[in-house]
Amino acid sequence: MKLIVDFANLHQIKEMYSYYPVDGVTTNPSILAKEGKNPYEVLKAIREFIGSNSELHVQVVSLDAEAIVKEAHKIREELGASTYVKVPVTREGLKAIKILAKEGVNITATAIYTQMQAYLAGKAGALYAAPYVNRIDNLGADGVKVAKEIHDIFKKNELKTEVLAASFKNSQQVLELAKYGVGAATIAPDVIEGLIKLDAVTCAVEAFTKDFEKLCGKGKTMINC
Ligand code: E4P
Repeated sequence: MKLIVDFANLHQIKEMYSYYPVDGVTTNPSILAKEGKNPYEVLKAIREFIGSNSELHVQVVSLDAEAIVKEAHKIREELGASTYVKVPVTREGLKAIKILAKEGVNITATAIYTQMQAYLAGKAGALYAAPYVNRIDNLGADGVKVAKEIHDIFKKNELKTEVLAASFKNSQQVLELAKYGVGAATIAPDVIEGLIKLDAVTCAVEAFTKDFEKLCGKGKTMINC
């Protein structure tokens, strides 16, 4: 499962890239709004930092197919042809996905709440489909189950589309999908940090340090003991 950062703040993206094995960055209009700057200014800085080998996913805002296609072209022109264009799976979105996929544009179908949205997006040529795990949970349904079923639908129908699970609020949701081996998960920095935050680990490491210092003296490590 690829690990993607769901955020647009460059400082935090740099932090995530330096500490964690990260494969890319996803954004959406709400995430970009938090930065309070021109979206292309923010996205170009992210692209420059992550390089062309890391995935960058950028969402369109237009609602009708023709305008979505135009917006996708502009996004690729500004941020590179490898950029994944996120298109919400509405009726118009599906029409745009069909057109853009034929042109060879990398599409991430987004705003997915149901298995059938994902199936149609995959058939239309999207490379990723992003089910919103926590938002589905908040509707009283089971977001992890929906994401797993979408993964199965893609495999059983021999579609090349992968799940890019999104909208996580806790480690359990991430764990379940990592165990299942979905294609990718895009996660906000605070939830990524939570994946390894455990008092037991801190205590274990502190005890090792204390024992070693008893043996070799304060501040000593395997470098200078
Ligand atoms: C990613 O594609 C989605 O835009 C994002 O993960 C939604 O997350 P949220 O439910 O935390 O806003």
